[in-house]
Amino acid sequence: MAKPVLLVVMDGVGFSKTGLGDAVTLANTPTLDRLLRECPNTRLKAHGDAVGLPTDDDMGNSEVGHNALGCGQIYSQGAKLVNESIESGKMYQSEAWKELVDNCKANNSTLHFIGLLSDGNVHSNIKHLFKMLTEAKNEGIKKARVHILLDGRDVPATSAPIYIEQLESFLKELNADGAFDGKIASGGGRMKVTMDRYQADWPMVELGWKTHVKGEGRQFASAMEAVETYRKENDGIIDQDLPAFVIAENGEPVGKIVDKDSVILFNFRGDRAIELSMAFDDDDFTAFDRGAKPDVCFAGMLQYDGDLKLPARFLVNPPEITNTLTEVLVAAGLNEYAVSETQKYGHVTYFWNGNKSDKFSEELETYKEIPSDNVSFDQRPWMKSAEITDDLIEVIKSKKYDFIRCNYPNGDMVGHTGSLDSTIIGVEAVDLGLSRLIKVCDEYGVTLVVTADHGNADEMLEKNKKGEVQVRTAHSLNPVPFIIYDKEVKYTIKDDTKYAPGVPTKYGLANVAPTIVKMLGLTAPDCWQESMI
Ligand code: 3PG
Ligand code: CO
Repeated sequence: MAKPVLLVVMDGVGFSKTGLGDAVTLANTPTLDRLLRECPNTRLKAHGDAVGLPTDDDMGNSEVGHNALGCGQIYSQGAKLVNESIESGKMYQSEAWKELVDNCKANNSTLHFIGLLSDGNVHSNIKHLFKMLTEAKNEGIKKARVHILLDGRDVPATSAPIYIEQLESFLKELNADGAFDGKIASGGGRMKVTMDRYQADWPMVELGWKTHVKGEGRQFASAMEAVETYRKENDGIIDQDLPAFVIAENGEPVGKIVDKDSVILFNFRGDRAIELSMAFDDDDFTAFDRGAKPDVCFAGMLQYDGDLKLPARFLVNPPEITNTLTEVLVAAGLNEYAVSETQKYGHVTYFWNGNKSDKFSEELETYKEIPSDNVSFDQRPWMKSAEITDDLIEVIKSKKYDFIRCNYPNGDMVGHTGSLDSTIIGVEAVDLGLSRLIKVCDEYGVTLVVTADHGNADEMLEKNKKGEVQVRTAHSLNPVPFIIYDKEVKYTIKDDTKYAPGVPTKYGLANVAPTIVKMLGLTAPDCWQESMI
């Protein structure tokens, strides 16, 4: 009988290439250091083509990272699929696009866009918005309103004015001939308004509904005025935390969402788009009081959840991820267990299983969610690492599971706040978790595999175009660790090119599932990447 395997995903813990604000190296990590010194290990590519993103300039993220970890394959991801659909014109031939446009034309109504305004390419891309606005005008739409969520989390922390400026001048040009009326209508920082995930904080989405749909909230003459005012009022505030705003003229919101309008949620990634989609789509919605719900034609950029069919209308088909690790384990009758705290719970369940919220087997799959605190995680950098570890220890002791996986969110969630000091503590909390797990793995004969989905904590500072050092809140493009700890079995990593700056890593995140399957004595599907052992 193969030994059980425990996979630890240290979210956002990579190996720095620049050394700038490297919280992973700065942290006191005796266990990680020991594992890297004594155990078979390598570095995995976690960005760009290794995870199905358009180019190697695209940093990795948790969605594409967990997809690749969970399925042993590389699928073209949302960012790439939307590019292709727009370039080929396929998007505009889709039923959904036609319905959205026909609805506005038939009713002389407004086409609304809601989404993250940046080129981070993690949840959205401003270029997609521009292309759709142009096409809408070409197809005879007269009026568009854009509801902008300010980023500063996948792009530089205070870069919102750059994107607002780009959108304002784009709209100005589009409006110039008088045949089109495009305006920014509302918005706010993505961590304050609308983009909650995994139902951690529904009031955020309720605020988004009030802001974008009802036009309720503090009024400003322009988005730029809102950002400047909020910055003056909140010293040191970064874009993701900016409060909600409504753009108004003569006291009247310029872009409430009303009956007969069409609405496009232009984010392609699902986790932070699902709750707003539910608010627009679900008839028996109870998460908050929507008031009189406008009767609109709503579409998502993608279908964010294939099991829930959410949203029902969407512009681009999502990647169809099949032959996942879970399916292989279920077919073999093995028991698996997944745990994280709320912020990353869907990462080890929904993203892991190819963006599916349903289980493949109720009997063989067990999920556990540990509720996250609703705070900015620089205030609680340890997050729920202790609780996750406690839970894992109990689960290992139960001897019920063949494959156990967890995600420690600290390196990523604290990393996104931009606080180097707190991120160091976050990484240390993960290291403590590992040290506790090693003991139980030794005692209960479990193989421990440690990796990460992408970098973040490893690069808390960056140089801007002028060469000045500034805070970095986004993920890094760095490789991540892959370590096998087993007291009894001696594993060797095949053909390992020891990492050195400039030397490409041989393996990527999609090589993890095949390796685990081999440890468990199972055969990997032919379509998978190769095993590292
Ligand atoms: C977020 O949604 O918090 C960031 O855009 C990406 O972070 P994640 O990919 O690590 O979840
Ligand atoms: Co992240």
